[in-house]
Parts: sequence; structure tokens; C-alpha cells
Amino acid sequence: LSEENQNIISAYEWLTKLYHHLLRYTKDGKDGYRYFKERGITDETIDEFQLGFAPNIKDFTATFLEKKGFHKQLLVKVGILTLQNDDTVTDRFRGRVIYPIRNHLGKTVAFGGRTITDQGPKYLNSSESDLFHKGKILFNFDLAKKHIRKKNEVILFEGQMDVISAYQADIKNVVATMGTALTEMQAKLLRRYVDKVIICYDADYAGIEATYKAAILLQSVGCQVKVARMKDGMDPDNFIQSSGADAFRTEVVEASDTFMSFYMNYLKKDYNLSLEGDRIQYIEIVLKELAKIESPIEREHYVKELSNEYDLMMDTLIDQIQTHRQKSSPPKDKREKDRYTNNGPKQYQ
Ligand code: GTP
Ligand code: MN
Ligand code: MN
Ligand code: MN
Ligand code: MN
Repeated sequence: LSEENQNIISAYEWLTKLYHHLLRYTKDGKDGYRYFKERGITDETIDEFQLGFAPNIKDFTATFLEKKGFHKQLLVKVGILTLQNDDTVTDRFRGRVIYPIRNHLGKTVAFGGRTITDQGPKYLNSSESDLFHKGKILFNFDLAKKHIRKKNEVILFEGQMDVISAYQADIKNVVATMGTALTEMQAKLLRRYVDKVIICYDADYAGIEATYKAAILLQSVGCQVKVARMKDGMDPDNFIQSSGADAFRTEVVEASDTFMSFYMNYLKKDYNLSLEGDRIQYIEIVLKELAKIESPIEREHYVKELSNEYDLMMDTLIDQIQTHRQKSSPPKDKREKDRYTNNGPKQYQ
């Protein structure tokens, strides 16, 4: 580690402890403490995640860190302080609750700061640096790692609060992308630890689009993907806080869909299924997708679903799938070879 990076880690260590202490034990942090209490977060969880509060005082952090010998420029560079036009600095996270973001070794390398007044952007993050690349880090990966490995399964969330609520509810194989799209690096990191990924993003437009992209990426690196489903507008934190951990486990995690089921629903967005022409096109597209599934049993499962939903005969659907399969199947010896390489026919789980 370079000297600069050591300094950055050390600054984050000091600040994490300070903000956490302020939140837990002082008047300066009581707004933050109350915020987490109102969101159902216990003292134990606050301690486990070292959640904190940055007091709403312009130069509080700068003064503290300068006394410890840290240079202003460095703190500006990593995004803890903001440089003003008159060359003074202010605390970037002031008045916000603080979520330390740890790397895989458990070292804090960035902060997420959430407003508690609904002013300004909802979340602010530290700047990207050598130590912190959003696309390489998954929130809570360090704590979740051993649970992920043990269960051979990880639950992927959007946000810090989703992870924290789940973890508090004793569901510990959980990580989050912190709002940005899952990257190939993150997908490969997860693949090293698990076969199965349950995507549990928010039940809104952005969440569903992100789910589709994450699912494709995760499958391309060899993960089995399941997709959790919640009522419109819910996110995992809302769900756990309102319905409890047991309901989350049984109604969301264990009831998660296969990718294909998710995808059959997802494809509907492009069609008006009350129109016959659209309905036919939609079914055609789905059949083309189903033709890519290798297992006949699995194929039949979805064919049954389609046949029930659209009142079509199974035989008709199966015939159509066979036509697609014959069209797209490569010569036999090539198929044998593909089985042992990564560019074989796509497998949907
Ligand atoms: P809460 O309202 O605190 O429950 O947040 P959330 O996690 O439900 O937020 P949301 O679903 O809107 O976003 C998911 C994640 O994206 C958050 O946890 C943040 O990490 C990130 N995020 C959300 N809003 C912003 C923002 O305004 N700026 C940045 N940089 N990140 C954001
Ligand atoms: Mn503590
Ligand atoms: Mn969201
Ligand atoms: Mn959310
Ligand atoms: Mn939320």
C-alpha cells in the first residue's frame, strides 16, 4: 500500500470511529441516532455496521482530521471535504448519516452519506480513488463472504438499507451494488463464491430494468439466477420492516422466480396483450426463448404456463419450439464440443 493510501485508510478509520461515537453517545449525533431508530435499526446493528452521523458543522471534520495530522488536499481528493471558491473547505457529509463502505478486507475505503431531511441528493458517496471503485466493491461483501460460501447462495440488493435490514433479520448472505449497475467485475467476484444468485432489486421500473441486465451478466459468468418478486413500489428494506424476516424469507427469497419466469413477464412490457396481434407476437418471442432451454422437463414447465395463460394447446406450442430448435441446432459434433466450452447454447435457469 502506498503511503497516501495508508493515510486515506487511516483517515477513514478515525472518522468512522468519530462519527459512530457521535451518533451513539452524544447530543451532536442524536438526529442521526433518531433517524436509524425510526427506520427500525437496533443499537447492535448500528454498532455492527459502524453507522454514524456527521454533525451539521461546516469545519468539524476538517478541524478534527487536521489535528490528527492529515492534509487537507488528501481529504478533498477522496471526497470527505469540499473545496470552496474562497479556498476554505467544508465537510461534504455534514448533517448526513454515514454508512462506512468497507473493502473485502473489512477496511473502510469510502462513505455513503444519506440525507435525513430530504434535502439535496438522497445519497452522497466518497469520490472514486485507488482504494474505492464503485464497480469493484459490493457493500457488505466482507461480512457476507462466509455466509455466502456456506449457503452457496447470495442475495443481491440495490441499497445499503436493504443489506442492513436483512442482516439485522439474520439473513446474512447479502450484498448490495449501491444503486449502480452490476459490473462484470462484481459478477465474477460473486461467481468465485457461489453458484446461485438471487437478485432482489426494488419493485419499480429502474429495479426491473437493472434486474434484467444483472441477470444476463450473471448468467454469462456462469451463475444460476433467481429473481425475487415483491409488490409494486416495495424494496427489500420496506418489506422486511413492514412484514418481518420470516415473510421475507418465505414469500420473497424462497418464492423467487427462475430467470425464465421473470423474463416471460419482463417481455410483456413491449406488447399490449389485450390485442390479438401483440399476443401472438409475444407468444412467438417466448417460444423462441424457450427453444434455447436444453432440458425438456423445464421446457414443458413453461409451455404449460403459456398454454394455461393463453388458452393454447400444448402440442401446438411444443411443435413450434421444435421448429425453432431444429433451425438453430448446430451439427452434432459441434454441439458435443460446445458442452465443454463457454460458448455453448445459452442455459436459462
Ligand atoms: P432509502 O431511501 O434510504 O431506503 O434508500 P434506498 O436504498 O431504498 O434507495 P434507492 O432504492 O433509491 O437506491 C438504491 C441505492 O442507490 C442506495 O442505497 C444508494 O446506494 C444509491 N443511491 C440512491 N440515491 C442516490 C443518489 O442520489 N446518489 C447516489 N450517488 N447514489 C444513490
Ligand atoms: Mn460501537
Ligand atoms: Mn431503488
Ligand atoms: Mn430502494
Ligand atoms: Mn429503501
